[in-house]
Amino acid sequence: MKIVVTGGAGFIGSNFLTRFVPQHPEHGFVNLDKLTYAANLRSLESIAEAPNYSLARIDLADAAAVDAFFESEKPQMVVHFAAESHVDRSIVGPRAFVDSNILGTFNLLEACRKHWPRGEGLLHHVSTDEVYGSLGPTGLFTEDSRYDPSSPYSASKAASDHLVRAYHRTYGLPTKITNCSNNYGPRQFPEKLIPLMIMNALEGKPLPVYGAGVNVRDWLYVDDHCEAIWKVIERGRVGETYNIGGRGERKNIDVVNAICGVLAEATQRPVASFTRLITFVADRPGHDQRYAIDASRIDAECGWAPRETFESGLRKTVRWYLDNPRWIEDVRSGEYLKWIDRNYGQRTGN
Ligand code: NAD
Ligand code: TYD
Repeated sequence: MKIVVTGGAGFIGSNFLTRFVPQHPEHGFVNLDKLTYAANLRSLESIAEAPNYSLARIDLADAAAVDAFFESEKPQMVVHFAAESHVDRSIVGPRAFVDSNILGTFNLLEACRKHWPRGEGLLHHVSTDEVYGSLGPTGLFTEDSRYDPSSPYSASKAASDHLVRAYHRTYGLPTKITNCSNNYGPRQFPEKLIPLMIMNALEGKPLPVYGAGVNVRDWLYVDDHCEAIWKVIERGRVGETYNIGGRGERKNIDVVNAICGVLAEATQRPVASFTRLITFVADRPGHDQRYAIDASRIDAECGWAPRETFESGLRKTVRWYLDNPRWIEDVRSGEYLKWIDRNYGQRTGN
């Protein structure tokens, strides 16, 4: 089967591809990616030469390019990761979020509708629990929770979810949606909490904690997330939504302290050499208080539950950043962006 993975050069997409491309030589995987600042081709080094993998640099906001890509590639399945994904960036510059997340998803849906006229194919849309807004101290998000997004990022993801559901109901397009909690693990760009803290701590830079650090997130190890998506693709019902959570609720300050503890152990340095860097800074506007997931549907219907605990996943994550100094150096220096420019600067389309 020809499987298109959008946003395959980003954090979750690259973990998905580096796992499933070697595992499934019977499928061809095409990575459709705009290669924004968040993309990193070094994350895909292990599969770059694989016979069942290729890359097409395309902006989903470009309807004609998306249509031409479908015309030439004739995919039978799309796993849709591509998005602008960082809440703080969406507060500073929301337009890119509307362009990539709403218009980009719309263009993808239009291409699927045109090229799969008899309801062939499958579009798996990857979304976030942030569409449900914020929880108080108790309770869990279910698939029936009301949409109530707080940030331009979560509002744009909510809009994309609504479009995907509408295309299923109106045109019979075969779709599945998953809404997951905060991912962490190898290859995550250091604008998100966990890799930012690891990289800053290793450099002796301040560890900026927003507000009092009491906001709660549910942490999902990226490999568990990728496995969940594959299970929903194989076993989930068409037209259905599945929530994916990591059973790893933590306050931000506890996450940062846990990172300091794991780093101290791994580097044989005193934990205080890291914890002294913790700095409380101004809170994020519209900061959601708590996210937590009821993942019983995916468990019951697809037989999925997370394998990692937060402690085991965090150890693996810190180890990966310590073992991959070249990846870190590239990100720090912006070298990976220059590489993309040298190799893809003049090229558009596939
Ligand atoms: P990321 O920011 O690391 O990567 C996004 C990728 O999409 C990049 O490779 C980028 O180049 C590509 N992209 C962006 N705009 C594009 C466009 N217009 N056309 C083509 N490609 C484009 O994101 P991530 O953390 O890997 O997240 C992947 C998906 O999972 C997103 O849809 C995100 O909303 C969702 N999600 C992420 C998390 C998380 O914790 N990271 C949690 C829940 C849901
Ligand atoms: P983030 O990784 O940006 O994910 P999201 O906003 O999608 O949940 O942030 C996770 C939590 O960490 C969130 O409550 C904001 C907080 N945070 C900080 O305290 N400091 C930081 O530097 C960052 C990036 C996030």
